[in-house]
Amino acid sequence: NPTRPQMEEPAALRPAACRAKGGAPGFKVAVVGAAGGIGQSLSLLMKMNPLVSVLHLYDVVNTPGVTADVSHMDTSAVVRGFIGQQQLEAALTGMDLVIIPAGLPRKPGMTRDDLFNKNAGIVRSICEGVAKSCPNAIVNLISNPVNSTVPIAAEVFKRAGTYCPKRLLGVTTLDVARANTFVAEVLGVDPREVNVPVVGGHAGVTILPLLSQVSPPCSFTPDEISYLTNRIQNGGTEVVEAKAGAGSATLSMAFAAAKFADACLRGMRGDAGIVECSYVASEVTELPFFASKVRLGRGGAEEILPLGPLNDFERPAWRRRRRS
Ligand code: NAI
Repeated sequence: NPTRPQMEEPAALRPAACRAKGGAPGFKVAVVGAAGGIGQSLSLLMKMNPLVSVLHLYDVVNTPGVTADVSHMDTSAVVRGFIGQQQLEAALTGMDLVIIPAGLPRKPGMTRDDLFNKNAGIVRSICEGVAKSCPNAIVNLISNPVNSTVPIAAEVFKRAGTYCPKRLLGVTTLDVARANTFVAEVLGVDPREVNVPVVGGHAGVTILPLLSQVSPPCSFTPDEISYLTNRIQNGGTEVVEAKAGAGSATLSMAFAAAKFADACLRGMRGDAGIVECSYVASEVTELPFFASKVRLGRGGAEEILPLGPLNDFERPAWRRRRRS
């Protein structure tokens, strides 16, 4: 098969496990949609993560080139490429963490919901593969609309009998990254020192930054709250319009996804106190899925943290959303 990437290791090499750095325990991670705008940068960033011992790159096109390219980085993760539906099973078998940035991105004038028809089918077929080949893997789902693709993935896993809500995590980290960046700009501080919880969902007004719970504690004028909320909710559209038809956020998204995946891996390793926002099955509200702070542990989202006190601005916004 001429399109097949170099999947097998040359016979002269020792098995991957022996070559992993110092025999240190590492995780097996797959990026599904690895040749895309997000996928390529994300593959690079995961190859840089010392917690990753094996990195599988899967896509329906162009994985041989991405795999060859990324595999020359002198970091410890062993990289293997897979292309096309017939190699999905091999790509997923044995994986501990599956990150899914597969699917169409938005163009100007599109909402995330406009992607539903196409991406629902893509996510379904990938999740059927996960259920079959690595049913215990933790899944980080990036494909939009996240508000809908996560429930679709849950239904696929339920039908396969492998559903565990703790292991299915919708990636909303980019909303948090944007919130941290924009709040830091307003406060005139380093964004790395800022942490803004962002709850609700991952589309327009469903994205609710809790500006009353910013760490370190601070306060904003009504104008600042209005500006920040609006900019955080429309951060994705800002990028889509600036790219003018060439897609949506890819670089900042890959950065955010790599950050979230790293938090998941540290939780899986047993580190304590790993808390990130994620769109998960939830009982925090009456909605079946909701983004909020979760504590990551060996089994995924081990605990969903309460929303905490909401101020007057956040509470009505949250009620309005629940009614719609
Ligand atoms: P892209 O079009 O550059 O890449 C998507 C990749 O998915 C392509 O390489 C394509 O071949 C691949 N693909 C399509 N069907 C596949 C299948 N069945 N199996 C495996 N791979 C498949 O798109 P981009 O910009 O990388 O975005 C990917 C997704 O991420 C989009 O749905 C986008 O809306 C979403 N996104 C999510 C964000 C979030 O915050 N959760 C932020 C930005 C984008």
